Amino acid sequence: MKSTEIRRSFLDYFAERGHRLVKSSPLVLPSDPTLLFANAGMNQFKDSFTGRESRDYRRAATVQKCLRVSGKHNDLETVGRTPRHHTFFEMLGNFSFGDYFKRDAIEMAWQLITGVWGVPEDRLWVTVFGGTDRLAADDEAFAIWRDRIGVAPERILRLGEADNFWRMGETGPCGPCSELHYDLGADLISVTGRSTPETDSRRYMEIWNLVFMEFEQAVGGELLPLPAPSIDTGMGLERISAVLQDKRSNFETDLFRPLVAAIAARSGVEPGATENSDFSMRVIADHARAVCFLVADGVVPSNDKRGYVLRRLLRRAIRHGRKLGMDGPFLDPITAVVIERMAETYPELLAAREAIDEVTRREELRFGETLSSGLVLLDEWLAALPPAETGAARVLPGESLFRLHDTFGFPLDLARDVADERGVVLDEAGFDREMHQQRERARASWKGGKVASEPGVWKSLAAELMTKFVGYSEVELEAVPVLAVLHEGRTVDELIAGQTGEVVLAATPFYAESGGQVADTGWIVGAEGRAEVLDVRRPVAGLIVHRVRVDVGRLVLREPVRAEVDRARRAAVRRNHTATHLLHASLREVVGLHVKQAGSLVAPDRLRFDFSHFRATSDSAVEEVEARVNAQILADLPVETVEMNLDEALDSGAMALFGEKYADRVRVVRVADLSVELCGGTHCQRTGEIGLFKLTAERGVAAGTRRVEALTGGASLARFRSDHAIVRSLEEQLAIPAERIVDEIGQRLKQLREVERQLEAARVSGVRERLLQELGQAGQVGGVKILVQRVDGLSAAETRELADSLRQKLGSGVVVLGRSDGDKASLLVGVTDDLKSRVPAGELVRELARIIGGGGGGRPDLAEAGGRDATRLQEALDAATDVVARRMEATG
Ligand code: SER
Repeated sequence: MKSTEIRRSFLDYFAERGHRLVKSSPLVLPSDPTLLFANAGMNQFKDSFTGRESRDYRRAATVQKCLRVSGKHNDLETVGRTPRHHTFFEMLGNFSFGDYFKRDAIEMAWQLITGVWGVPEDRLWVTVFGGTDRLAADDEAFAIWRDRIGVAPERILRLGEADNFWRMGETGPCGPCSELHYDLGADLISVTGRSTPETDSRRYMEIWNLVFMEFEQAVGGELLPLPAPSIDTGMGLERISAVLQDKRSNFETDLFRPLVAAIAARSGVEPGATENSDFSMRVIADHARAVCFLVADGVVPSNDKRGYVLRRLLRRAIRHGRKLGMDGPFLDPITAVVIERMAETYPELLAAREAIDEVTRREELRFGETLSSGLVLLDEWLAALPPAETGAARVLPGESLFRLHDTFGFPLDLARDVADERGVVLDEAGFDREMHQQRERARASWKGGKVASEPGVWKSLAAELMTKFVGYSEVELEAVPVLAVLHEGRTVDELIAGQTGEVVLAATPFYAESGGQVADTGWIVGAEGRAEVLDVRRPVAGLIVHRVRVDVGRLVLREPVRAEVDRARRAAVRRNHTATHLLHASLREVVGLHVKQAGSLVAPDRLRFDFSHFRATSDSAVEEVEARVNAQILADLPVETVEMNLDEALDSGAMALFGEKYADRVRVVRVADLSVELCGGTHCQRTGEIGLFKLTAERGVAAGTRRVEALTGGASLARFRSDHAIVRSLEEQLAIPAERIVDEIGQRLKQLREVERQLEAARVSGVRERLLQELGQAGQVGGVKILVQRVDGLSAAETRELADSLRQKLGSGVVVLGRSDGDKASLLVGVTDDLKSRVPAGELVRELARIIGGGGGGRPDLAEAGGRDATRLQEALDAATDVVARRMEATG
């Protein structure tokens, strides 16, 4: 049975039994920030188990894309070492949300495996949950297997929590489970005692896990009962394919064979050559699949979270490629096989084909260098490690690791892989120490230009004071007490006119720079003077510090002041911030869901937005994005800002930046149903305030990162005006209407080029005419005519052509042309055929070229030379007559 048929027959079987066939979710689950990647079929139904969501069906079946590379379910390190572990795999599953329970689940599973697929009963074993102190044993499942199915009691094992109590993660639905195991054959026995699925993982393979969902694990570990007992089953397609295709390794099934063959073809290493080369082939085959599916679901390599997993998989694959002797990029033909074989079931692979090529090629080139230099060194060091005392492992010191990392950018996890294979342990604590010291050094040098005591001062101030930020609703505040004044890093009682320093207020409407939004500017005005606010920072949590310059009078500690934000500037910033959210949402819609914010600047005069994307955004996409944002502005949509708990916010689907730390209470900014983002910035109340949104630039700024810039409000109007003024002035000067300007300029440039060409031709023919006239007066030496001329300003080709025609006109003689171009000079010699044996052009030019500090040569009738010293060109030309005379004499 082919794997495609197995998928089909699984789904058909459960569809016939009243199950809704549901599509696999993407690997990156849109609704679950607790998971890096989908790791089980039940993930997308999490809320249906807990009752938070209800669907119009209570039975479902899926083939789910899974990736087990992190968290509770992580097989990354095991891949390749066994015949049956994978990072990416497909999980066949049937589910009941409060519908059927244990008995039906067990009966349906047994009937499919033995009845429909014909797996012999005597090769199957069963496990059930044996209970712990706090969780009851699953006697019910045991009885169903024994009494209803007829499995011999000695083939039903009762195992502990680690094996037979399934959890999705630290939180989420869970329950006791029951597994089906398949006996691959007694010749595989790998233990001395009793060989059972519990003791012998070589001989037995788990094929299907039936989870009897009964609880939800809360934060802290407490088990709460689910609204109704439910079923979640999972069977790896790769394993059941091995069983039904009678293979002992998943890598021998039709899911992997073509991949292994492609690797063998590309590397020239035969499958089965050595244990190590097989290991590498398995890793590459596995990782190639994972990479394709990750990219297709919008992940791009980065140094953070999901992107890092992708990068790590790519790098491991690349390293194993090296081990098979593949030095350059090699993944392309292998990912091509993944796409070709899987696209029928997963069409997203076809759509992502280019992205997959691009991502893998880039990473292969980039990582290739790191790898080459780092690996050589690491290999040397590992080989040179002294043997350890008996029983102890050899250890690679932290300093070496740090050097590898610091000098070559060699990733620690890769070093761990390599060391692991040689039985060496890494001194990671030592590595951390070195990293820490380096950070300290960097900090010390950075502090050079700053007030040394400052961070300390802020810390101690923050312990006593706090600034309340009121800037979301206010831009001006009356009678706020000045809590602290600093001058040159020290607390003082006042700042006087001309002085620059810092001021802390009890409350402030001033926004401190954060999340890409620049700080507010404005004024602090007291009874005795006024200061301009130049910058605002939040050096420690709870403390907002204004950097000010007093321009009139004085600013005094404890006095009440008025804090006044520059309103027009704030309004401009606000427009750009709300526009940034609209831009982000539109980019995701137009360019793709893989677009993620990679950096942002929200300033009064413009906005800048960096995002992950591996190619230039097409002109039409840029236009589309701009049009969408403007349509949303014209629709004058409400912008709502609410505070809520982080969990609530994430549940509501708010876009959070991965790798960013959020407080428990967060602000969520929502624009109609278009955009929901966690954001601490200041925003418009309605999109209409933004005014015209104009994109002004789109370009790449780093591998996989694009940047767009845009204008809104007054700035886009100003740009429109200045562009318009240019057009108007062009209209006037050219005396034509605007719509004809582009054509007109094109035409005129064309004419100009034509005129230049004609002028050039006239100049060349002028020189030629003059020289031809002078032919008559060509000098005679030793009986030959010789014409020596300077032709500065002609091109090399023109000179050559001229020399040739002069040579022919001469009938019998020698032509020497010299030209200078800046510092450089060149010489060209032409000799008529009758003389070329007596005065070969090549030798003549070589001799003359010495004078201009150069060399050259060529045919006996036509030869060229260049030199670096144009100041001596005339000297070289003057020498020509003598040299020719000497040669004539010598050969006469
Ligand atoms: N959730 C269980 C597993 O992943 C059964 O689908 O094994």
